[in-house]
Amino acid sequence: MAVGVFDSGLGGLTVLDAVSKRLPDVPFVYFGDNAHAPYGVRDADDVYNLTTAAVERLWEAGCDLVILACNTASAAALKRMQESWVPKDKRVLGVFVPLIEALTERHWGDNSPPREVAAKHVALFATPATVASRAFQRELAFRAVGVDVEAQPCGGVVDAIEQGDEILAEAMVRSHVEALLRRMPHPDAAILGCTHYPLMQHIFQDALGDGVKVFSQANLVAESLADYLERHPDMLGSGTDSMFLTTGDPKKVSNKATQFLKRRIEFQAA
Ligand code: DGL
Repeated sequence: MAVGVFDSGLGGLTVLDAVSKRLPDVPFVYFGDNAHAPYGVRDADDVYNLTTAAVERLWEAGCDLVILACNTASAAALKRMQESWVPKDKRVLGVFVPLIEALTERHWGDNSPPREVAAKHVALFATPATVASRAFQRELAFRAVGVDVEAQPCGGVVDAIEQGDEILAEAMVRSHVEALLRRMPHPDAAILGCTHYPLMQHIFQDALGDGVKVFSQANLVAESLADYLERHPDMLGSGTDSMFLTTGDPKKVSNKATQFLKRRIEFQAA
């Protein structure tokens, strides 16, 4: 009954941590495509090819349901995968929708027509590929009217986080926030649209100021997955073991992951 969690690298561990705390009896198989991270600077075809290869590996590990804990893959590849690639007995879900449902104050899975919501000025921080896809604005338009979104492509932040360079990552976050605030001085809410960014959430909040509500994905995805599995218990796959797979060097990736999650994580070669 395992569920797969995919990211280009380590960022999805923020989601893995939250889903495994929320659903302690479910085994999770994590796949980090560290050899090919970051995805945020790749084109859509490239992201699609890498993501489908990783998801196939998770199916092999007995996960019929895979969460793309990567906004870049959710934005650049998920729609194409769902439309023409995912077989009928499998599911691949992204991380955008739970975030937008929370921002627009909806119950999970509520597909009623778009309506006015409290947040009127929303700052979106994401990778260049996610921003270029406009997937966030597309999904938001299905659910809300009259929301002004200003998006900041945060080049370099994922690289700095993957390299474990917190000082560089912090400097980059502060400069991306400043750049956005020059264009939208008073956002009501900010979306951290990359699963690496919760690791820098306190810096985003500090740079944005206390008046801005910062939405980050991990707990929202965990709640929405718990709700989904209650409605679709048949989607728990045949796998029984939790594991961490990587396309990178398992030793190096394990050390960095351990540093991030502050508990020992052992990756094995995918
Ligand atoms: N953490 C991923 C995301 O949410 C991947 C970023 C990247 O690989 O550039 O977008």
